Amino acid sequence: MAGTPPALSGIVEDNLATLASGASARVCRVGERFVVKIFHAAVSEEMIDREFAAATLAADCGIAVARPVESLRLRAGRAILYPEIEGPTMMRQLRMRPLRSGAMLRDMAAFHRRIHDCPAPGLRSLRAVLRTDIIYGPANPALQQAALRLLDGLPDGDRLLHGDFHVKNILMAHGEPVAIDWSKAARGPVTPDILRTEMLMRFGEGPQDWLTNRARDWAARCYADHYRGIAPGHFAQMAEWRAVVGLAWLRARAPVRQKAFLDYLNRALAAVDLPLIAG
Ligand SMILES: Nc1ncnc2c1ncn2[C@@H]1O[C@H](COP(=O)(O)OP(=O)(O)O)[C@@H](O)[C@H]1O
Ligand SMILES: [Mg+2]
Repeated sequence: MAGTPPALSGIVEDNLATLASGASARVCRVGERFVVKIFHAAVSEEMIDREFAAATLAADCGIAVARPVESLRLRAGRAILYPEIEGPTMMRQLRMRPLRSGAMLRDMAAFHRRIHDCPAPGLRSLRAVLRTDIIYGPANPALQQAALRLLDGLPDGDRLLHGDFHVKNILMAHGEPVAIDWSKAARGPVTPDILRTEMLMRFGEGPQDWLTNRARDWAARCYADHYRGIAPGHFAQMAEWRAVVGLAWLRARAPVRQKAFLDYLNRALAAVDLPLIAG
């Protein structure tokens, strides 16, 4: 248990030791058992509020998360106070203990499935997120319209979707996974959230040398195979979702493994008879 949170006035802002930095925030230790995640100025209020709400909802549902303690307005920016989770990221653990990677990826799949068991009717709808990302993305109008029609025909859902579930957003506390970084959470059907994880593992930020790429592809397959093994019903209409999720990701993704991703996306588009994207 995290114990008593430090009083707000106890946070001496000038004296915060940075524990880790991510794309959207820096995370500093506060007292002995807490961290404060201080968001970069470019991160919207909406995103920060969503992270707080979704992580709280996941905690209420019994999921292993760092439960938000308090939302803060510091001089350095908006922040959320969390209990500190002691343990490395799953990414680090996979690198440090490669012989255990199969078991860790199995745990990751089972953990993701448990998250998907939680209802989250109050969160934003993934369908709306995908629609917006496709419309504001780089695809030409004909491809956009065809993809939106495809999306319209896909089912709805009310499950809790993390939206950014990958090996750097999982901390390993005493060997058990804990999910952090809920700012991209949504509600919806689970299949696109699984595909999103598969894509993040293969083509998301991180090292991209030849050997790592092979390991990334293998890990993504291992995760997906395990998930399919425990919940085959969560793999419905994969081809359609793969095309839609891949296209939506084009709006925001960093150019990591760009050629491999475009090949993957074009195969996914071709599989559902959509026009291809220019490389
Ligand atoms: N509650 C926590 N306890 C310990 N470390 C944390 C905690 N939350 C975040 N971190 C560390 O900070 C890093 C960045 O946090 P994250 O929430 O993923 O931010 P970003 O949105 O910038 O990716 C994590 O990879 C982890 O190392
Ligand atoms: Mg993160």
